[in-house]
Amino acid sequence: MKYTPINKSFFIQNRRKLAERLDASSIAVFHSNDVYPTNADGTMPFRQNNDLFYFSGIDQEDTILIVFPDSVEAKYKEVLFIIETNEHIAIWEGNKLTKDKARELSGIETVFWFHEFDTVFKQLAYDATTIYCDQNEHARAEKLIDTRNDRFIQSCKTNYPLHTFKRLAPISNALRSVKDPAEIDTIRKACDITKDAFARVLKTIKPGVREYEIEADIIYEFVRKGSRGHAYQPIIASGANACVLHYIQNDQVCNDGDLILMDFGAEYGNYASDLTRVVPVNGKFTSRQKEVYTAVLNVFKEIKKIIKPGVTLQELNIQTGKLMTRELLQLNVLKQEDLEKPNGEQAYKRYFMHGIGHHLGLDVHDVHVKNEPLKEGMVITLEPGIYIREENIGIRLENDILIVSNGNIDLMEHIPIEIDQIESIMHS
Ligand code: GLY
Ligand code: MN
Ligand code: MN
Repeated sequence: MKYTPINKSFFIQNRRKLAERLDASSIAVFHSNDVYPTNADGTMPFRQNNDLFYFSGIDQEDTILIVFPDSVEAKYKEVLFIIETNEHIAIWEGNKLTKDKARELSGIETVFWFHEFDTVFKQLAYDATTIYCDQNEHARAEKLIDTRNDRFIQSCKTNYPLHTFKRLAPISNALRSVKDPAEIDTIRKACDITKDAFARVLKTIKPGVREYEIEADIIYEFVRKGSRGHAYQPIIASGANACVLHYIQNDQVCNDGDLILMDFGAEYGNYASDLTRVVPVNGKFTSRQKEVYTAVLNVFKEIKKIIKPGVTLQELNIQTGKLMTRELLQLNVLKQEDLEKPNGEQAYKRYFMHGIGHHLGLDVHDVHVKNEPLKEGMVITLEPGIYIREENIGIRLENDILIVSNGNIDLMEHIPIEIDQIESIMHS
């Protein structure tokens, strides 16, 4: 394992909180993700299902977790199923978790082999009246293929048609949105690795370098620091590419006089970080680039001051719209008459077309309860941007912000963001 695992007490506590929220006489089931095929005998790298990980700590394929708080037999209140290893797997893939190691990681005493699931579940299901199943309920998730959880729901509804079925996502989303200190430490570690990668690229960016060379420096730093890689596909966008919000080709030459927008973040122990910085390819901002950068930084700083418990992301977005309008007028990008047209207060959206931030955790766009005000322990991104296609300037600045009782802590405060800091590092 490349990362130091979170202590099992965290996963024990998560299951306790889950058990408190389940209806009486109910059984909850979580499945790991598939190992997805590519072509021939190739596969994608395995990525654990985040809910299964959150409630078990097991980061291995072919894993199932059962939580059955009202089980009459105490040993079935929590049950884990893991893949049974064999000589063939040991030779080709190396060691898988033993039952003892799975107990040590998860704090679950009852561990079966994966292939025993159907038999054990059948015994338990008839002692419960409700089956809680897990599904990805992210509003923007494209449902192109069925996950193991999806297939389980279908088979369960066929095999146990007289049970009541309930959704786990509302419970897991609410629990996962507020981070435990152990999770915050892990996110901090991801942020620190991201910081090191930014420091590395500041030394190598120069006119003529290709965007993918910068990407290569980033992944080099990530992997050597114990990250499995990018928390999401990195955006390394020079010049006009920076105005393409999800630009991931990263294949163009960085030209003298252009800016380069870099949106990247290390994952660590399954947790994400999410940074955006924009620097001049030749190490010196032009005066116009400085003006636009400063406008974005002004919004960043003003919104940061109001991030605290009780505020909603919608309120932050409304305030951002007002500040963006002010800055865009100042930049002469918006004109007073634009504001006087119908929906003039939305005119800024032509130059800032995404939200001011999102929750961050096991997912980059992390799960949460819709419209819920911010609470202590939540982590969100703060990412204002201005994209002026007419001028080939796209600037976004993004840090990860922890909500604390009296306001917030910027987990990326140590990553250079001021114009003079960036210029002086690039010239040193
Ligand atoms: N990198 C994805 C985002 O900033 O939301
Ligand atoms: Mn983001
Ligand atoms: Mn980002």
